[in-house]
Amino acid sequence: AAAAQRPAVIWLHFGECTGCSEAFLRTPDVGGIILETISVEYHETIMAASGHQAEQNLHNAVKQYDGKFVCVVEGAIATAHNGAYGKVGGRTFLDIAWDVIPHAAVTLAIGSCAAYGGVAAAAPNPGGYKGVTDAIGAPAINLPGCPMNPLNLLGTILKYLNNEPMEMDGYGRPLFAYGESVHDRCPRLKHYENFEFATEFGSKEVEMGYCLLDLGCKGPETYNNCPTAKFNDSTSFPIQAGHPCIGCSEPGFWDTMTPFYEE
Ligand code: SF4
Ligand code: SF4
Ligand code: F3S
Repeated sequence: AAAAQRPAVIWLHFGECTGCSEAFLRTPDVGGIILETISVEYHETIMAASGHQAEQNLHNAVKQYDGKFVCVVEGAIATAHNGAYGKVGGRTFLDIAWDVIPHAAVTLAIGSCAAYGGVAAAAPNPGGYKGVTDAIGAPAINLPGCPMNPLNLLGTILKYLNNEPMEMDGYGRPLFAYGESVHDRCPRLKHYENFEFATEFGSKEVEMGYCLLDLGCKGPETYNNCPTAKFNDSTSFPIQAGHPCIGCSEPGFWDTMTPFYEE
């Protein structure tokens, strides 16, 4: 996109591990395109400002780009006890979310934390952590995954810039990335169909490409494009590396998909 068309992006960090930012910052090809396509006005991990200056930058960016910026949210929002369980610069995530997100042209909730609460919302969740839409009722395009796949963020940004329609599923996930299950495209599917199941981690069978269902694989219940998009510049993804899918792009997966492993 031409420089003039680069949309201003305000990137908020709430209750998270920064793994979603790391996923794209450590994928130089994809991360580079993302950073060339958008203009990041505020991002706590990569901006130079700190302290009060950073707070001021956020305030100024919201004012300057009111109604026009893309808000990327990474992390869940604490909602119990007036949001007391999560703060940045003395302000609750909840306050910041209410202050910023309603002024955005579009909100992208990246990673399972921002989309559905993620690890912070795992039982017993004393802080009342929730994803963006559940926390403040704001509409968001959800790009779950723990971490989200940087290619899915890039694809969503490009579709948005080109005014392409974004079809979504019932969990607010774009169908171009989350329309098929991990199982549908799994490189081990042939072995599944032949009833060839690995029963031990690191075994010869895992190496031979046998299905990981008996080791706990949640691929059949999980919607994400990891088998085709893969991670780390399309090098690999969990199942290819011999690790069962833990369902990381499904709402509530820390509670609903555990135990992750079976043997
Ligand atoms: Fe980290 Fe996972 Fe949350 Fe992304 S979704 S910020 S990788 S815990
Ligand atoms: Fe399906 Fe998982 Fe087996 Fe792949 S490893 S075929 S996703 S059950
Ligand atoms: Fe997550 Fe399963 Fe893909 S664990 S990264 S959805 S293979």
